[in-house]
Amino acid sequence: MGGRFITLEGIDGAGKSSHLEAIASHLARYGAEVVRTREPGGTPLAEALRNLVLHTAMDAMTETLLVFAARRDHLAAVIVPALARGATVLCDRFTDATFAYQGAGRGFDVSLLTALEQWVQQGLQPQLTLWFDLDPALARRRLVEARVADRFEAQGPDFFERVRDGYRNRAAADPGRFARIDAAAERDAVSRQVIDVLEARGW
Ligand code: TYD
Repeated sequence: MGGRFITLEGIDGAGKSSHLEAIASHLARYGAEVVRTREPGGTPLAEALRNLVLHTAMDAMTETLLVFAARRDHLAAVIVPALARGATVLCDRFTDATFAYQGAGRGFDVSLLTALEQWVQQGLQPQLTLWFDLDPALARRRLVEARVADRFEAQGPDFFERVRDGYRNRAAADPGRFARIDAAAERDAVSRQVIDVLEARGW
């Protein structure tokens, strides 16, 4: 496939979403069509599943199956066609979030996650994952000011320590794909780090 697949990851409150716009315009400057999307979500079905996952009580397996069902629809309807026509897909969260939240956070069996990842993605992985890494205590302070918490944001500090470890493990397992962004820095400095990563890849 011709296009580029870039994902943004990090614990809630790390600030990744606020950099999405700037990343999209940086990439668009080089003429590429940029498709901005998110997970869970990105299609009408996947957005409906997102609403359930974020606001309805359920066990970890149900949660996992719903995020992968949403991902399957999103891949088939949006991501794969976009990459096939040469577009750049910029996705706010993807499967690393499932390993971090359902795997490390909820304690769901990682070997099952690996099997589902293989099943749903058929080997497709992002070329680049920008991991906005931040101390959970700092992330929490940012979140509390920002909004009403969903089912994940309402979790305690231990949960987010585990989620952060989950991201750390995924990054260590695939260092060529991951770029760690120090999200504790000032907003402009964070932006600079992101642009440096893109430029280092000639993007
Ligand atoms: P998020 O991306 O932070 O969006 P918003 O900024 O609108 O809150 O919210 C998505 C939530 O879903 C986040 O708490 C992480 C969670 N999530 C999972 O638990 N597993 C997944 O596989 C994905 C993609 C997200």
